[in-house]
Order: sequence, then structure tokens, then C-alpha cells
Amino acid sequence: MQIGQNVSIGRYFGLSGVGSSITIEDDVLISERVFITESYHTLPDATYPVRHQSHSIGPVHIGRGTWIGIGVAIMPGVTIGKHCVIGANSVVTHDVPPYTVAAGVPAKVIRRLDGGDDASAQGALGDQNKDND
Ligand SMILES: CC(C)(COP(=O)(O)OP(=O)(O)OC[C@H]1O[C@@H](n2cnc3c(N)ncnc32)[C@H](O)[C@@H]1OP(=O)(O)O)[C@@H](O)C(=O)NCCC(=O)NCCS
Repeated sequence: MQIGQNVSIGRYFGLSGVGSSITIEDDVLISERVFITESYHTLPDATYPVRHQSHSIGPVHIGRGTWIGIGVAIMPGVTIGKHCVIGANSVVTHDVPPYTVAAGVPAKVIRRLDGGDDASAQGALGDQNKDND
């Protein structure tokens, strides 16, 4: 796990992983009760206990200056761009473009923030929500 400078992490923070990576860039604010995982059990053979199944893994990356709201869960393989806001109690299952607000279960982009000139933030509302609908 890599944590940048000036990162603030609230109480009851949880991490889970078996060998991929979690990167939190500078100036990230993580509220209380946030959970980040870079692995999960693969969908089980119903005749076999889940805990004995293999894992699927994917790195998690949280960009500079992003704010993760209270109670958020971040799933494996997700990249959250810089200067994002993740709404309270969201479950982040897909990448979140930079300079956007995303919220819900699963988290979807609800607003694009001023100041973001990254190409990936352009049209974020339409693109991501189309994928998730
Ligand atoms: C996401 C948040 C920042 C608001 O962002 P915003 O761009 O101002 O969004 P709005 O309040 O205008 O809401 C836009 C829509 O998203 C919905 N929404 C807002 N926050 C949401 C959330 N956490 N989960 C699901 N939906 C949410 C609103 O209900 C609204 O839906 P509607 O258009 O159907 O009415 C805020 O709701 C939030 O979750 N803040 C985190 C607070 C926190 O964790 N504090 C901890 C202390 S550090």
C-alpha cells in the first residue's frame, strides 16, 4: 500500500487485500468507516465453501485531492481520479473520472466539477451513466 503526503484517514478505516496494490495519492481526505479492498472471492462453486475459493484481485488507485465520504466501500480494480468527491455510503465498482462527484450504490457520476480540464472528465455524466444503466 502506498500513501502520499497530507493524507487524512478517519476512524474505523478498513483494508482488505491479498497481493495487489492500493495507492492513495497526496491530499486525499478519507472520512470515517471507509473500506477499500483490492480482492474478493471469485464466484463460488456452490458445492464448495466460499472461503476456500480463489481470489480475484485488482489494484485500487485514489487520485490526488479526492474526498471519500463517510461509509464508502471501494471495490477491486477501481481508479478514482484526482479531485473527485465520493458521496456518503457509496459503493464504488467502476472507475470515477477526475473532477467529478459520484454517489450511490453502485456509485455513478452525478456532477462534473469546475476546474477539471482532463479529457476523461469531459462528458463524464453521459458516458459513465450510460455504462451503468
Ligand atoms: C455527494 C455530496 C457531496 C453532494 O454532492 P452534490 O453534487 O452537491 O449533489 P446534490 O446534493 O446536488 O445531489 C444530487 C443528486 O445526488 C443524490 N445524492 C447526493 N448524495 C448522495 C449519496 N451520498 N448517495 C446517493 N445519492 C446521493 C441526491 O439525492 C440528488 O439526487 P436527485 O437529483 O435524484 O435529487 C453529498 O451528498 C455527500 O454525500 N457528502 C459526503 C458527506 C460526508 O461523507 N461527510 C463526512 C464528513 S468528512
